[in-house]
Amino acid sequence: MDQRRGTLLDVTDLRVIFHTYRGTIKALNGVQLWLNHGERLGIVGESGCGKSVTSLALMQLIEQPGEMIGGRIFFDGHILNELDESQLDGIRGKDMATIFQEPVAALNPVMRVGYQIAENIIQKSGNAGSRKINEDVGKMLSTVGLDPNRTMRLYPHQLSGGMAQRVMIAMALSARPKLLIADEPTSALDVTIQAQILELLDDLVREFDYSTILITHDMGVAASFCDKVAVMYAGNTVEYATTTEIFHNPLHPYARGLFRAVPRMGNSDELETIPGVVPDLVNPPPGCRFHPRCRHAMPECKASFPPFLEIEPGHFVACYCFVNKG
Ligand SMILES: Nc1ncnc2c1ncn2[C@@H]1O[C@H](COP(=O)(O)OP(=O)(O)OP(=O)(O)O)[C@@H](O)[C@H]1O
Ligand code: SF4
Ligand SMILES: [Mg+2]
Repeated sequence: MDQRRGTLLDVTDLRVIFHTYRGTIKALNGVQLWLNHGERLGIVGESGCGKSVTSLALMQLIEQPGEMIGGRIFFDGHILNELDESQLDGIRGKDMATIFQEPVAALNPVMRVGYQIAENIIQKSGNAGSRKINEDVGKMLSTVGLDPNRTMRLYPHQLSGGMAQRVMIAMALSARPKLLIADEPTSALDVTIQAQILELLDDLVREFDYSTILITHDMGVAASFCDKVAVMYAGNTVEYATTTEIFHNPLHPYARGLFRAVPRMGNSDELETIPGVVPDLVNPPPGCRFHPRCRHAMPECKASFPPFLEIEPGHFVACYCFVNKG
């Protein structure tokens, strides 16, 4: 029987490789993610763990030299990896929209902002007449806190980083997507602007009840923004739980290291770091990819990847410490 873990999204065993001159990069090695309508999921993990590749794969935007070699992406009644390009075009940017880390780079440098948002609206919702489109563009810009008349006429290079990210948010939300994917949406911005953009996203997601995936390095952001968190390590989901559960009771040794590395109010203990670095994914360690860095590694950890098991209701982990050996 098909048992879906999320009503809107359920990603099972997602595998992606990149063919490069150095060899095959085994970037995603069995990612598991799910999300219910109206929920916010955070994806956390060190640099190179596969967070951005996961978001591209969700949009079915893995291109050469990349290849999706396994897995299934259920989204809103469709199996995305079984659809053709024209069917995907009807979903991408419409039902599923993305906000990227580098907003200026994602905008067309030779087109005014108003024109780009208008094009986006027309593409996703059909031509509704120029007057109506202009009104809609203005409304979207006001919604993200920008002066519509002034901003519409600007070119991307005339926008500050914070303004450009607001424009990207306006574009992403103009089609009222069912799922918004934000890949490190604030990491290119300075700290005060980061806080403003996150507050804006938080307000909009709350007001319009968007389901959201937020990819972030910042555990504080994940804690304040997300309902659930998936921890990725070297191409695998190693833990998945509610935000409260994962912050108070992280189980996977990598997640424990990650959450212990977060400064907490009133805790003067020295912060712990995780020794070593994310492995080279051309030649990843066999079995559990975390074993060279893990204090708890056992012989079986090197032999095969641990099963991803539900240890407590809604709390999943992939680690041999939690496999019942009885
Ligand atoms: N176009 C590509 N060609 C070759 N390898 C790629 C490509 N895109 C990603 N990779 C590889 O896939 C792996 C995962 O990369 P990804 O960008 O998803 O990491 P990330 O978790 O988003 O890191 P960061 O936090 O730095 O953004 C890395 O080993 C990366 O080098
Ligand atoms: S499976 Fe083994 S190596 Fe991997 S995290 Fe668990 S104890 Fe450590
Ligand atoms: Mg990334």
